[in-house]
Amino acid sequence: MIQGGAGPLSVRQSRPQDADELSRVHVQSWKETYSGVLSDGFLAGLDRTARHEMWKRVLEGPRVADHWVACDDDRIVGFAGREHPEQQHPGQPILLWGLYVLQSHQGLGVGRKLLEAALGDGPASLWVAAQNEQAIAFYRRFGFQPDGAEEVIAEWENLKTIRMVR
Ligand SMILES: CC(C)(COP(=O)(O)OP(=O)(O)OC[C@H]1O[C@@H](n2cnc3c(N)ncnc32)[C@H](O)[C@@H]1OP(=O)(O)O)[C@@H](O)C(=O)NCCC(=O)NCCS
Repeated sequence: MIQGGAGPLSVRQSRPQDADELSRVHVQSWKETYSGVLSDGFLAGLDRTARHEMWKRVLEGPRVADHWVACDDDRIVGFAGREHPEQQHPGQPILLWGLYVLQSHQGLGVGRKLLEAALGDGPASLWVAAQNEQAIAFYRRFGFQPDGAEEVIAEWENLKTIRMVR
């Protein structure tokens, strides 16, 4: 348990009933994180219904066990999700596909808790927007380094991302 939010802060594995709230947190955290990076029009167009469908699919399937939520009392304020690429590509480390904490709850130890729940302290990789200096510094704090790989995501307004590994 961490103190600092309105209520007690905790991290737990996600469950199917979280889909609706996760869609809210997902859209809000994208707006907060990518303001000034992605266009206002793109961010205004983020579709909560589509996110809800995505989270429902994920949380009602076998991958539910690879997702965690952070809660302030019983309200979700962050999430983390991982994938296991080694199932298709042997030898590849766990991929952290998403880690988001609402601005209101950053700096309270929630990101660390989510990261540790999803990855422990083992080998892993992730992709982060090249301009997201805050997240890049956070990941460095936990032993990640850019490995030189870059990707441009066409459907996200050609956002440039870099890979970090540890
Ligand atoms: C990046 C993020 C996940 C960090 O979560 P957080 O809850 O704010 O971080 P924590 O409070 O858990 O910090 C844990 C440790 O990391 C350090 N840390 C946090 N942010 C840091 C930063 N930008 N630079 C360096 N260290 C940082 C903290 O000082 C703390 O160190 P300590 O354990 O020695 O005290 C969070 O700020 C966030 O969600 N940002 C927006 C979304 C985002 O960019 N996600 C990544 C997309 S790939």
